[in-house]
Amino acid sequence: MDTQQIKGKPIAEKVYAECLQELEVLKSGGHLPGLAVVLVGDDPASRAYVGSKERKCKELGLHSVKIELEEDCSQETLIAEIEKLNADDAIHGILVQLPLPGHLAEDEVILKISPAKDVDGLHPINIGKLAMDDATGFAPCTPLGCQRMLIETGMGISGKNVVIIGRSLLVGKSLGLLLLQKGEGGNATVTIAHSRTENLAQVASDADILVAAIGRPGFVTEDFVKEGAVVIDVGINRVEDASAKRGYRLVGDVDYDKVAPKCAAITPVPGGVGVMTIAMLMANTIRACRMAEEGKELEFRR
Ligand code: GUN
Repeated sequence: MDTQQIKGKPIAEKVYAECLQELEVLKSGGHLPGLAVVLVGDDPASRAYVGSKERKCKELGLHSVKIELEEDCSQETLIAEIEKLNADDAIHGILVQLPLPGHLAEDEVILKISPAKDVDGLHPINIGKLAMDDATGFAPCTPLGCQRMLIETGMGISGKNVVIIGRSLLVGKSLGLLLLQKGEGGNATVTIAHSRTENLAQVASDADILVAAIGRPGFVTEDFVKEGAVVIDVGINRVEDASAKRGYRLVGDVDYDKVAPKCAAITPVPGGVGVMTIAMLMANTIRACRMAEEGKELEFRR
């Protein structure tokens, strides 16, 4: 089968071009979108993600703030930082890098972020808006990135049988809600499968669009995939590799070499979904700024 590789970069570039256009309008009105990223502890992968977000803000010309807290910081300290950012008019988007160290209550922390600045789309108000097809909220960035890749691939989402493996709020569950919404980029028939799903390979092999978001390297093999399916690999797993410069390499949740020959289209890892997450974060931040300037953040206080 002639397999199309869905690369993230050209699609992310398209999103950035749209961002720059919006940014120009905002800047000409004297408004500069600002993103604050909060990093707790020193997890190397989290540090790398936060670094990429900061670099991208600089590249586009957004105001960017990084708050670094010690691994053993208290819940109160973290919440106090969030409350400062909520009150800061130069900040339109707040992202707390996850996962947090085990002693911190993630749900409680996210609940403290102003929903109007929750560009990560994880606050219950934004998740509720997503579930209610209310476009005034923010959806999480990785699901938005996956949806955009599917739209740009032009293979259609409406009416398609989508199977998502993974039920995290950050990816699987939110992507399910997004693809289920009425309207462009939605109208799919969605199944969210997970570690307890019986006959997982059989369930997956019914999919026109299969999304792997489980965080297990090479988990999805050819018996999970229908001939001609579109496969989106959200996994970014570090596996030890003594021959690699950094001592590890990045692999997806899909066994690419075995699966690709069966697919109509598939995303690579690296070079696939990963770059889309940051692109959608920039787009959400610029939108948060526009909404604040237009007084639309009031939508969150209804
Ligand atoms: N960790 C991995 N991906 C993400 C993300 O999209 N948002 C946050 N906050 N943390 C993450």
